[in-house]
Amino acid sequence: MRVKITTFNFPIRGDDRGSLVAIEESLDIPFPLRRVYYIFNTGHDCRRGSHAHHTLRQVLVCVHGSCKILLDDGQERAEVVLDQASRGLLVDRMIWHEMYDFSGDCVLLALASDLYDEGDYIRNYDEFAALAEC
Ligand code: TYD
Repeated sequence: MRVKITTFNFPIRGDDRGSLVAIEESLDIPFPLRRVYYIFNTGHDCRRGSHAHHTLRQVLVCVHGSCKILLDDGQERAEVVLDQASRGLLVDRMIWHEMYDFSGDCVLLALASDLYDEGDYIRNYDEFAALAEC
C-alpha cells in the first residue's frame, strides 16, 4: 500500500480584486494551529526537511511557485507536487519528509500544530524506520 496522502483544497474567495484563501485551525486543517513558518530563497538543487517528528503535525502549502515533497511512512514512499496556493498537504506525525525541486520563486508555507521543539525531531532515517516499525 502506498503511503497515505491527505490533501486539502482550500476555497478561494476571489473577486475582481484578486484571490484570498483563509485557513482556520480545526476547521480547514485538522489540528489547532500553534506555529507558522515559511521557506523561500531556496536553491533548485537544495533538499530540505529530511526528518520526521514524534508528535508534530503540519500542513504544507506552496503559496507561490512549486516544489516537491517526499513522504515516507517507514514502509512506503510517495512524491507530491505542490504548485497551488489553495492546496494543502498533511505531513503527519511519524512521516519522514523531504522537500526539493524548489522553483526559484517558491514560497512554502508550513502550518504546524506546536511550537518549535528540537527534541521532537527524528533526524536519522534508520532511527525513524526502527520507530515506525513499532
Ligand atoms: P530546519 O528544521 O533545518 O529546516 P528544514 O527542515 O526546512 O530543512 O530549520 C532551519 C533552522 O531554523 C534551524 O536552525 C532551526 C530553525 N527553526 C526555528 O528556529 N523555528 C522553526 O519553527 C523552524 C522550522 C526552524
